[in-house]
Amino acid sequence: MKIMVLGSGGREHALTCAFLKNRDVEKIYCVPGNGGTEDLEKCENVNLKTIDGIVRFCREKGIDLAMPGSEAALVKGIVDRLTEAGIKAFGPDRKAAMLEGSKAFAKDFMNKYGVRTAGYRSFSSYKDALGYLSECPFPAVIKADGLAAGKGVIICRRREEAEDALKLIMVDKHFGSSGDRVVIEEFLEGFEASIHCFFDGKTFLPLLSAKDHKKIGEGERGPNTGGMGVAAPNPGMTDELWEDFNKNILAPTKEGLLSEGLTFQGVIFFGVLVQNGRCYLLEYNMRMGDPETQGMLSLLDSDFTTLVTGTLSGKLENTELKWKEGCACCVVLASEGYPGTYRTGYEIKGITPDISSNIYMAGVQKKEGLPVTSGGRVLSVTAVGSNLEEARSLCYRDVEKISFKGKTFRKDIGL
Ligand code: AMP
Ligand code: GLY
Repeated sequence: MKIMVLGSGGREHALTCAFLKNRDVEKIYCVPGNGGTEDLEKCENVNLKTIDGIVRFCREKGIDLAMPGSEAALVKGIVDRLTEAGIKAFGPDRKAAMLEGSKAFAKDFMNKYGVRTAGYRSFSSYKDALGYLSECPFPAVIKADGLAAGKGVIICRRREEAEDALKLIMVDKHFGSSGDRVVIEEFLEGFEASIHCFFDGKTFLPLLSAKDHKKIGEGERGPNTGGMGVAAPNPGMTDELWEDFNKNILAPTKEGLLSEGLTFQGVIFFGVLVQNGRCYLLEYNMRMGDPETQGMLSLLDSDFTTLVTGTLSGKLENTELKWKEGCACCVVLASEGYPGTYRTGYEIKGITPDISSNIYMAGVQKKEGLPVTSGGRVLSVTAVGSNLEEARSLCYRDVEKISFKGKTFRKDIGL
């Protein structure tokens, strides 16, 4: 089997490693891949810049399945294009990808089908949005409608902050056309859980829950990032909460997808906030999380390639996933300054055979055979232990062994 993995993050490195565990996988093309995927046997990094180029390459090489990692290509309709060309692609078509690509669309969908979520209003007129601030309760959350790499959400304690946020998004166009519309949402307080469910068009198959740490600073302070680390399973996710999630989020979502003809073969990653023992859906993501993938796949004991091909052929019913006992802890090492500006090009030292954790590369390139930093999130260290405490201690032991100039990480992942 020949596979294409699209993307260049730690998630894509982990996906590639998971596919490679299956002996039927003869070749994986990583587009563009990174300094980690470059080193893997049977893997080749390929630089393809356009969807046309990707489709042509898949045809020429006889790719059996393509797995887009991130949301940008999905929203552009990469799955539609690959499917038209007869190539099996994991993920939503352009229409279903709007559940991630437009927050207003997603909220209207949740509202229509009774998926429990925070109260909201959406506006495409700056004047109307500004007017609404005089009646809206605070704190409030202001969100740019379109994709903004996880940065288009601003929590506003007071009305003045909300006015600034609206100006930034709708007038200054800080997030470009993603700010043509905004969602103004009720603020919820509690803990978050990342819940991924594979979807074959008829059946949902939940994976383990995960706990992402989104803020750059310890104690959840400072600006949002793509994710600084993960614990899996999420220690707060009880059986009662799973039941609540299934009833109030998953079931109505399924009903909505079927009624609206938004079915596809891929994954939905539900961004859930638990407030007072009730699950609320903050957002749909139509792809795997990064770094959730690194944490979850380290615990998966079933064959990942079989899971993906089963999803693509509509055969998830009666599938049961096997998971290793214990917990995973994944810590992201970032460049100093991330998620703002940062420098790159520093040599990464200490990735030696005595490291027992999985090291998944993200912003890493090879220079004269040596790994150097090339991005904001540089790499992630993922360890598995019999419980979270053990996973944390194994993980942080290996985190200490790796060094590069400006290495930045949180010491409280999993706490
Ligand atoms: P989103 O992209 O919608 O998931 O938002 C990114 C992050 O902003 C979430 O992971 C939460 O930490 C925070 N957030 C989003 N919506 C809300 C809300 N209604 N109340 C509190 N925090 C929120
Ligand atoms: N870790 C959050 C995300 O992938 O969106």
